[in-house]
Amino acid sequence: MSNDSELVAGLPSGFRWGVATSAYQIEGAISADGRTPSIWDTYCRVPGAIDNGDTGDIACDHYHRMPADVALIKDLGLDTYRFSVAWPRVQPHGKGPVNPAGIGFYDRLVDELLAQGIDPWVTLYHWDLPQELEDAGGWPVRDTAYRFAEYSMLVFDALKDRVDTWTTLNEPWCSAMLGYAYGAHAPGRREYPAAIAAVHHLLLAHGLATEAMRTASPRKLDIGITLNVATAYPASDAEPDVDAARRADGMGRRIYLDPLVHGHYPADVVADLAREGVELPIEDGDLEIISAPIDVLGVNYYFSQKFTGYAEDGSTLDASGLPVSRDVPLGKPRTAMDWEIVPEGFTDLLLSIARDYPGLPMVITENGSAFEDVPDSEGFVDDTDRTAYFTSHLAAVADAIRQGADIRGYLAWSLMDNFEWAYGYVKRFGIVRVDYETQSRTPKRSALYLKELAALHRGRG
Ligand code: NOJ
Repeated sequence: MSNDSELVAGLPSGFRWGVATSAYQIEGAISADGRTPSIWDTYCRVPGAIDNGDTGDIACDHYHRMPADVALIKDLGLDTYRFSVAWPRVQPHGKGPVNPAGIGFYDRLVDELLAQGIDPWVTLYHWDLPQELEDAGGWPVRDTAYRFAEYSMLVFDALKDRVDTWTTLNEPWCSAMLGYAYGAHAPGRREYPAAIAAVHHLLLAHGLATEAMRTASPRKLDIGITLNVATAYPASDAEPDVDAARRADGMGRRIYLDPLVHGHYPADVVADLAREGVELPIEDGDLEIISAPIDVLGVNYYFSQKFTGYAEDGSTLDASGLPVSRDVPLGKPRTAMDWEIVPEGFTDLLLSIARDYPGLPMVITENGSAFEDVPDSEGFVDDTDRTAYFTSHLAAVADAIRQGADIRGYLAWSLMDNFEWAYGYVKRFGIVRVDYETQSRTPKRSALYLKELAALHRGRG
């Protein structure tokens, strides 16, 4: 048996093979058909916020090239396409009626996918909050959760007859922490208590939308949320290191999954937050809403980290008397993002979710890597590094499945090179190369590899 056959032999029949993108990262056409600015349009205009001063103004011009991009997915023989809907296209003021021209784009996209035999997987929110809602306070404000549920129903009503799989939010950790605590993503705020409020309101938004979609659903649908999660390893068995890893796991994984699945926030995390002087703004009934049953958990995995509770000078408390927490290298090779390549962390993560939240089916909704691509004169990229990343991470998924995790599909990030947020266009995650001068698309070796694996797997099924 070849290595490829062995690899796909470890994956169940019916396993999904696909690719993912998000609206702001590929669409461009930021003023077309009534779209208003999102927080990312605003943030891209802050001097120094984005490498190179890049913006999503044009991106991959997918808004105008959608049928050709769908044909690309079809050519790769993949069965699932996960894309996101841009809230400021569909409901330009963050409230009020649907914008027919805006939803029209997604209506055509869904039809095109179905015509090509590709299953559409809709993400309702991949970070492009209408700027008007940020002006009203953004995610730290409770009302935004209700606005999201209302917007979700506009999309749902338009597409529910043809779309079976729905993700409410993509990576709420990034929206809350990168956006409101670290100022590294839009809207670029650095207000820790606001970020913690955002965590809760994002989860509330998810629960409200889930409940509303379920109630209005004409048939059995798969509804879920996508989280960016990782394994947090302690640097040693020493108590401060073990505790630093516990806190990282608490803020990265359990603070989302415990309320979603078990209906309460983890007590240790609530205590950690209290020590930091912050509190989740929970109101009566919120946790029932947040824990509305989901059908699928989307897992986005890129890397894992090791944590220590010691500062470089050996102390365990920082200047404000709080426990030290720092990530330290695992000593692995790195991608162009400077992220360590840790496939075993993927297996450990999937098994930890299966252990802590049994009965929750998972799909890998993103996994991939950026490397320094070098195109030949035809634009072809022989990306053996990215291909090897896919091999090792798919093997990690197969390994977790062998050990009992329920994982039903794998969507590569990303269909094509695109706007990598604060890193602009320099970092390339695509399995298809985009030449931004000409907007031409060229599948890389990694795309051909995934095509082959999907075909091999299907042939077995
Ligand atoms: C996860 C995010 O969902 C996606 O938007 C981003 O491009 C990738 N990570 C790579 O950083």
